Amino acid sequence: MSTAISPTAYNYKVVRQFAIMTVVWGILGMGLGVFIASQLVWPELNFGLPWTTFGRLRPLHTNLVIFAFGGCALFATSYYVVQRTCQTRLISDSLAAFHFWGWQAVIIGAIVTLPLGYTTTKEYAELEWPLAILLAIVWVTYGLVFFGTIVKRKTKHIYVGNWFYGAFIVVTAMLHIVNHMSLPVSLFKSYSAYSGATDAMIQWWYGHNAVGFFLTTGFLGMMYYFVPKQAERPIYSYRLSIVHFWALITLYIWAGPHHLHYTALPDWAQSLGMAMSIILLAPSWGGMINGMMTLSGAWHKLRTDPILRFLVVSLAFYGMSTFEGPMMAIKTVNSLSHYTDWTIGHVHAGALGWVAMISIGAIYHMIPKLFGRAQMHSVGLINAHFWLATIGTVLYIASMWVNGITQGLMWRAINDDGTLTYSFVEALQASHPGFIVRALGGAFFASGMLFMAYNVFRTVRASNPAEAEAAAQIAVVGAH
Ligand code: HEM
Ligand code: HEM
Repeated sequence: MSTAISPTAYNYKVVRQFAIMTVVWGILGMGLGVFIASQLVWPELNFGLPWTTFGRLRPLHTNLVIFAFGGCALFATSYYVVQRTCQTRLISDSLAAFHFWGWQAVIIGAIVTLPLGYTTTKEYAELEWPLAILLAIVWVTYGLVFFGTIVKRKTKHIYVGNWFYGAFIVVTAMLHIVNHMSLPVSLFKSYSAYSGATDAMIQWWYGHNAVGFFLTTGFLGMMYYFVPKQAERPIYSYRLSIVHFWALITLYIWAGPHHLHYTALPDWAQSLGMAMSIILLAPSWGGMINGMMTLSGAWHKLRTDPILRFLVVSLAFYGMSTFEGPMMAIKTVNSLSHYTDWTIGHVHAGALGWVAMISIGAIYHMIPKLFGRAQMHSVGLINAHFWLATIGTVLYIASMWVNGITQGLMWRAINDDGTLTYSFVEALQASHPGFIVRALGGAFFASGMLFMAYNVFRTVRASNPAEAEAAAQIAVVGAH
């Protein structure tokens, strides 16, 4: 696809590239999710090879869905939103291109090194130091392009969606660099600069804020642009969006210790993490309500617009997972939920219901605009995708709730003489039906992504370069 190089046009090339790769990595990452879910049902699928074991493929799944799928969705949308709301082209095409190719290189690096067993062992920060350094360089480039574009904006105001994207960029850089401080001893082996409880604390400060800033704040930036756009209504309360922003970023950063309840971490730190997590319900729901209420007077559109359905249902799942999270952060609840499938269900309520659904809605919104088409090739296919995704998510979460509570209760059950009532294997056997339902739910969700790929392919094929170039022309101020 040719790119408009006129300074009066947006740089849509990099947006198109990231948007297409969102779909590609989504299929691979979720396909791998279905595969590891199936390994938990049929362990023979580990094939007895080190490279294909659950332990090596699980981190590849998390890296692919979070950083490849989620990352590309965030980059595509943030570059689209920042250009349109600032009425200007990205500050540098070559830096944006470096960002795109550099990021793909990091992902390919993950696909090669993780199955080979090279890992720091820190969850969501598994990539060994050469890849971690490349990632940091690419990230700083992203920051330069994004903030540089904000600086050269033609509008006086910085739209709130950009604040959320901006916080996501700054905090992710900080987390990645601090948590990855380590001493390399060979090309693919390094030791963390921290030890003991400090290492755990830094890791979960990172881990939780990867959720808070990567999987939440960036996607809220997406919400603040695409929900009003698709609903054709202004955001419900702009004032609430500002309060939402400051409250969310102030609170999230303190909640990490809820991942370390009943560990060697000092008790006061655990209690602080618990308290901050409970307070976090307020800004989370404030944001969710702000998004939902944007549909005031436009609810009827849900009947005919499956893209809007994706966006609104994602907000419902966001509300659900941010209610569940603070509850799980309460120490007594966590003593039951921790180590069980309840956590996995919570993760995917956020990951499938919120992160994936809002990304899918945003990509469906953008693709026709990026390729100069009036709409997607088939609205019927978007609708089918919506139902596959919704049913898939519900099957996933419900089966994990049942499994999680069953496991938690069976593990803590004791006989009168103080011995355990159930062995671990008995709890595992009781979990088997839930594992089957989860794999089925995942297969529903992942097959919806194949519908999406076909729909995107047909839309892109119907585009011609002149139409796409015309679509990239910068609109007059006020018309974004
Ligand atoms: C078809 C869709 C998906 C399926 C079938 C799937 C399946 C799985 C499975 C089986 C696990 C391991 C669970 C365990 O250790 O017991 C897992 C972990 C995980 N997945 Fe997915 N997944 C899917 C989509 C996603 C998406 C889209 C995201 C993020 C955007 C995601 C993020 C994660 C995370 C963060 C974990 C680690 C959870 C933890 O350690 O607590 N998954 N997934
Ligand atoms: C107010 C918001 C939230 C709070 C207070 C919260 C709280 C929690 C708690 C208490 C845990 C369990 C920790 C453990 O027992 O190990 C957890 C796990 C997790 N949550 Fe949330 N959560 C929130 C929202 C979300 C959202 C929206 C997402 C996803 C998009 C998400 C993703 C995760 C992930 C990936 C884990 C698993 C981490 C791991 O052990 O690997 N959370 N969360």
